[in-house]
Amino acid sequence: MPPLIELIRREIAASGVLPFARFMELALYCPNYGYYQTKRDNPGRRGDFYTSVSTGELFGQFLAFQSAVWLEGLNSSPVTRHSSLCLIEAGAHDGTLANDILNWLEASRPKLFEQIEYGIIEPSPTRQEWQKEKLEKFTSRVRWHTDFKDLKLKTQNSKLTGIIFSNELLDAMPVHRFGWDAAAKKWFEWGVAGEGEKFVWARMTESRHLLLVTRHMPRELESVLPDGYTVEISPAAENWWREAAGVLERGRLMTIDYGLGADELFSPSRPRGTLRAYFRHHIADDILANPGEQDITAHVNFPAIQAAGESAGLTTESFSTQAQFLTRILEKAAKDKSFGDWRAPHTRQFQTLTHPEHLGRAFRILIQSRQSTPIQRLASG
Ligand SMILES: C[S@@+](CC[C@H](N)C(=O)[O-])C[C@H]1O[C@@H](n2cnc3c(N)ncnc32)[C@H](O)[C@@H]1O
Repeated sequence: MPPLIELIRREIAASGVLPFARFMELALYCPNYGYYQTKRDNPGRRGDFYTSVSTGELFGQFLAFQSAVWLEGLNSSPVTRHSSLCLIEAGAHDGTLANDILNWLEASRPKLFEQIEYGIIEPSPTRQEWQKEKLEKFTSRVRWHTDFKDLKLKTQNSKLTGIIFSNELLDAMPVHRFGWDAAAKKWFEWGVAGEGEKFVWARMTESRHLLLVTRHMPRELESVLPDGYTVEISPAAENWWREAAGVLERGRLMTIDYGLGADELFSPSRPRGTLRAYFRHHIADDILANPGEQDITAHVNFPAIQAAGESAGLTTESFSTQAQFLTRILEKAAKDKSFGDWRAPHTRQFQTLTHPEHLGRAFRILIQSRQSTPIQRLASG
C-alpha cells in the first residue's frame, strides 16, 4: 500500500472520521509523499493543471513592472531610504515566477534590482531545492524563509517595507467542508472515512469547526438553502493572510487566486461548493481518490480574506478580475519604453491571461496596503 494511503488510514483509524481539511493537508503537503512535494512539473503542460505562470514569461514581467512602480513609490519616501525594500513571494513552487520577475527587473530596472531583496516564503526543503536550482544566477539576491516567523527572526523582528504577493497559493490551502442538513436545520462537517480499498465522504457527528460556517453564512439564507448545500472555508488561508499583514510595515499585500466575491459566495449555481481535484488537465471524478497523485483546490472566499487583512490594519485598495488588473498594467507598460519589446508570443499570452473563458475572469486579485504606522505619520507631519 502506498505510504501516504497507509498514513491516512492510520489517522482515520485513530479518529473515526478524519476532517477533510486534514485529508487535504496530507494529500498535498505530507512530507515526502504529498502532491506538492513530488510533482515538480506542476503546474504546466506536463502536469495536471496550468496557472498564469505556465502561460509564459509575460505574467511575471507584468507583475515585475507593477511591483517596480509600487517599490519606486515607497523608495522615494524618507522613511524607506534607510531600510531595505523587499519583494516577497509565497507559493513559489519551482521558482519560475521569481525567475521571470527577477530577469525583468535586472534588465529593465537595474538600479532598483540592486536595491531590493527578493524573499521566498517556502516551508518545504524539497521545493526550496527546486527554487535554488531554477534561480541559480540570482542566489545572491534571494533569501529563503520557511515562514513569517522565520522571516521575523532573521530580520530581528523589524517589519517589512515592500510587497508580499502570491499566485495561486490561497486556493491550494486546506479547507473545511460543510453541508446543510435541511431537515435538522443545521450544518455538519464533511469528513473522510475508509470503505474497503477506498476513501469515502462521511458526515462527522461532532465537529469543533462548525462555528466557522455559522460565522460566515448569513442566518437569513438558512430558510432557503437546499438540503446538502455545501460550502468550503479555509481558516488556514485567513490565518496566513493575517500573518502576512502582521509583518508588513509599509507597502502592499497581494494575492491572485481562483475565487469568489461577496455577491458570488452563496450562489444557487454551486450547490456542491467549489472543491475540485485535477488530474492531467481534467477534473477528476473522485476528489478522495489517489491522494498525493491529483491536485485538490477550492475557490478562495475573498470577503473573508479581505476582512482578515482589514482586521490586521490593512486598507483594501482593489479587488478586480485578472483581466482588469493586467489590462491596467498593459496601458501603463505601453507608454513606458523601458518595458521591453512586445512580440507575437506576448500578444498570445496576454489573450490567454485576460480572456474571460481562459484565465481572465476566474482569477481575482486582491490588493491591500499599509501606508505607514501612526508614529511615522506623525513624524512626517
Ligand atoms: C497551485 S501551486 C502555485 C504555484 C505557482 N505560484 C504558480 O502560480 O505557478 C501552489 C503552491 O503553493 C505552495 N504552498 C502551499 N502552502 C504554502 C505555504 N504555507 N507557504 C508557502 N508555499 C505554500 C505549494 O506547495 C505549491 O507549490
